[in-house]
This record gives sequence, structure tokens and C-alpha cells, in this order.
Amino acid sequence: MRQKIRKAVFPAAGLGTRFLPATKASPKEMLPLVDKPLIQYSVEEAVGCGIESILIITGRDKTAIEDHFDISFELEQVLLERGKREMFELVRSVSELAKISYTRQKQALGLGHAIYQARDFVNNEPFAVLLADDVVDAPEKSALQQLIDVFEKYQSPVVATMRVEGEAISKFGVIDAEQIEPRVYRIKDMVEKPKYSEAPSDLAIVGRYIFTPDIFQFIERTEKGAGGEIQITDAMRLMVKEGKPFYAVELQGTRHDAGDKLGFLIATVEYALKHEELANDFKNYLKSLYERIR
Ligand code: G1P
Repeated sequence: MRQKIRKAVFPAAGLGTRFLPATKASPKEMLPLVDKPLIQYSVEEAVGCGIESILIITGRDKTAIEDHFDISFELEQVLLERGKREMFELVRSVSELAKISYTRQKQALGLGHAIYQARDFVNNEPFAVLLADDVVDAPEKSALQQLIDVFEKYQSPVVATMRVEGEAISKFGVIDAEQIEPRVYRIKDMVEKPKYSEAPSDLAIVGRYIFTPDIFQFIERTEKGAGGEIQITDAMRLMVKEGKPFYAVELQGTRHDAGDKLGFLIATVEYALKHEELANDFKNYLKSLYERIR
């Protein structure tokens, strides 16, 4: 029977150490990219793909995420009293985006361990995982939709990848794979954060996944890997090693690492240049800036 992807999991329990001190008391998923927190972009991406139910895996100090997607009664009242109807609608629409529930990862033991916290929520269905700090700007078809298309065809798990040149590859999970159609690969092996000299290819894993529920059995058998953490890449590798089909899509679009200071600045500039209200003024500012610093 063909199964539809209805559920999505958002791991958001990381410590955000690459973005300290901004992330000391507030999760990195709440960093604003122009005027929306990072996590809202990927929640909207998921909702746009027909996802009905979302689980956000939180850690300590994650109440800001819960508050953001909740109704803000006081704020809504004030906006209405002041006649700011449009603002009211905007604020209200965030709380109506999707059915969102939360669970806590009590210890930051790694991405595999975080995803494992979703096993009751997922029950017995295929599901999507989105890492909110990987912002994928894909004008034609969203990153998650590109994965769903492949899942629907092959009815097997799928991961997003992109080509990464040079030493930077060692910041990612990297796949070894055989191409089976344009932009689609069948995975033969994968490794989390390899040395540049040992990377099996230049196809780096990007934070979008579709898993079948059997992934949980493989996470249970996964030992600590890179960085002393339970890595999802290692659990996926176990699956592949046992002969289970696993596919990769080479995404169309641009990926920004918004959990990194420079990546975040670049994403901010790119998104501001596309923002309805800001684009013109911001472009003019950038032009004058260029004259000043060149
Ligand atoms: C995680 C994954 C890694 C993937 C990356 C994409 O790593 O473990 O395989 O390539 O996300 O952003 P992290 O960046 O959390 O260290």
C-alpha cells in the first residue's frame, strides 16, 4: 500500500554552540531570518508538502519555540485594540500553521538520539525530518517536496544531498552512491564527518530526510560515533549495510547553513533581497555599501 507522508519531526534540542552567545538562553531555531524565526521557514515548507502533524524535539530553554507557535492572547488583544488588523492576522496565522506537539530530549546525545524521541509520535508511518538551521531556498519545488517525490516512486527512505567542494565536506555526512536517474542516487555507504581525504564523494547530506519507521530499530543498535554522539548517519548506514534500499536526492536550490554565523549573514542578505517590503531599499543600501568598501 502506498503511504503518504503526514508527519514531520523537527529536532531542535541542540546547544547551538556555533552561535554563542546569541543562543545562550534562546534556541538557534528562533534566530530571525529577516522577520521570521528559522524554524518557521521549515514548518511552512513541511505544511506546503501536505504535512498535517508536527513534533518538535526540544531541549532546555526551548519555551520560545512553543510560545511562537501558540496563540499570543495579550499581543492579539493589543493589536486589535490598536486597529492593527493585518498584524493580528499575521500573528494569528503562525499559531494556525499546523498541529504541533513537543517532546523533550533530556540530554543532548546526538541527532540520532533526538530523532529516536519521535518513535511514539511516528507510530507506524513513514515520516519526514527537517533540520531548521539548513535553510533551503528552492524556488521551483521545496526541498522536502523533492524528497517526497522520490519516496513516492521508490517507497523507501530518502535523504537530501548537495555537492560540496573541498575541505568543507568534512562538516557533513557524506554518501557513497550510484546514480539511478537524474539527481537520484541509491546509497551504497555513508560516513558522518569524514576527513577530506577520506570522503567517499562530494555529495553531502543536507538536513531533510524521509524515514520509514524501521529506522528506530537501527538507532537502537547505533553506538556513539563522530563527536561522541549517536549519529543518525550511522543508523542509516546500518540500514544500508543490511541491504535495505536507501535513496538520495541531489537538491535543486541553494542551501544556507543558518546555524553558522557567516552562513546566517549570507542567508539574511539573500532573503532580504527577496523580501517584498525590504528588497528595494536593501538593494540600494547594498549598492552604496559596495561603493564604500570596494
Ligand atoms: C547534521 C548531520 C549531518 C548533515 C548535517 C547537515 O550535522 O549529522 O550528516 O550533513 O546535519 O546540516 P550537524 O550539522 O548537526 O553537525
